[in-house]
This record gives sequence, structure tokens and C-alpha cells, in this order.
Amino acid sequence: MKWLLPTAIILIIVGLIGLFAVNYFSFMPSQPGHIREPFRGPGTRFPSGGFKSNGEQIFFTGTSSRDTITATGGPIWFQMHGGGCANCHGPDGRGGTVIMMGRFTAPNITYRTLIKEGFNNNLIKRAITRGQDEKGGTLNQNMPRWHMSDQDLNDVIDYLKTLEP
Ligand code: HEC
Repeated sequence: MKWLLPTAIILIIVGLIGLFAVNYFSFMPSQPGHIREPFRGPGTRFPSGGFKSNGEQIFFTGTSSRDTITATGGPIWFQMHGGGCANCHGPDGRGGTVIMMGRFTAPNITYRTLIKEGFNNNLIKRAITRGQDEKGGTLNQNMPRWHMSDQDLNDVIDYLKTLEP
């Protein structure tokens, strides 16, 4: 039984090295050019000095000063801790790679980009509330389905208009 302890220690060290390696490589772009930095996820920083509009508040926090907003779907961390559009689409709305218990890419949702892709205001609202793209296709479950009032939808769309494409 003398080998048991050293073997256990070696196995633990190998395991730790493995963990570091997995973490390291999961942050490395697997296809250069396809992964947009910076990485997104929980912990996205809010603008300093408070929110200048309700739309900005919704965008960063997923909460409204008018009404209660709820969301279904989204990744587990989002279901547990909530968040705003910025957590996935980035504080600049230009999208990026979301890394948190896995990874996925969120698209650019700045207003002018969405319009160029064929969205209009109603189709943007449909994407937010029903998870459908401009052609009616189903967005994947990483995009939460939001339940918010029409006023709140207008507010957040107005905020998307302020973002550089
Ligand atoms: C937890 C991550 C997450 C959050 C939070 C989130 N989204 Fe998304 N969103 C996504 C992903 C991922 C997609 C792309 C899904 C796909 O391609 O199937 C998406 C797609 C979209 C699209 C469609 C864009 C396109 O080009 O097809 C719009 C519009 C959109 N989101 C708006 C919002 C708004 C507005 C908010 C905040 C109220 C928000 N999203 C919050 C992850 C998120």
C-alpha cells in the first residue's frame, strides 16, 4: 500500500494540469477570425454614473423602471442570476463570444445592423419576445424569450439606435 499515496498525489496533479489546460484552450479561439473579442458573460460592467434612460437600464440589467420584466430560456447561469442584453450581446451591442459553463456566440444587435439584416421594429420585438429571426426561423435557446411591455420594447429599441453599428 506504500504506492497508494504517491499515486493519488500524481493523479491529483495530472487532474489539475488537465483542468488548467481545458480552461486555457477553451479561451483560445478555435477558428481564428470567427471568435470576436472581448468575451461576454455574467459580470459585464455597467456604465458609470447610472443609466440615462429606461432602455439603457433594460439593456444592461434586464430590469425596467416601468414594469416587471421576466425571461424564460437562456443558459443556466442566466436563468439563475438574470442579466441584460449586454451580458451576451456586449456593452456595445456588437455581439461576441459568451464564455460561462460553455460558450456560444451572440450576434450584433445594434439597430442599424439589425435593419441592414432585414429586421424592422416589429421583427426586432418578435425576436426579443418570441425568439424568431427576421425570416421567422427559431433562434436558439441561448437567446432568452423576454416578457416585457410594448413600452419597454420601444425603450430598449430606442437604446439600440444609440449604439454604433
Ligand atoms: C443569455 C444570452 C442573451 C441575452 C441575455 C440576450 N440575448 Fe439576444 N441573442 C442571444 C443569442 C445567442 C442570439 C442568437 C441566437 C441564434 O442565432 O439562434 C440572440 C439573438 C438576438 C436577436 C436576433 C439577432 C439576429 O441577428 O438574428 C435580437 C434582436 C436579440 N437577440 C436581442 C436581444 C435583446 C434586446 C436582449 C435584451 C433584452 C437580448 N437579446 C438578450 C443571446 C442573448
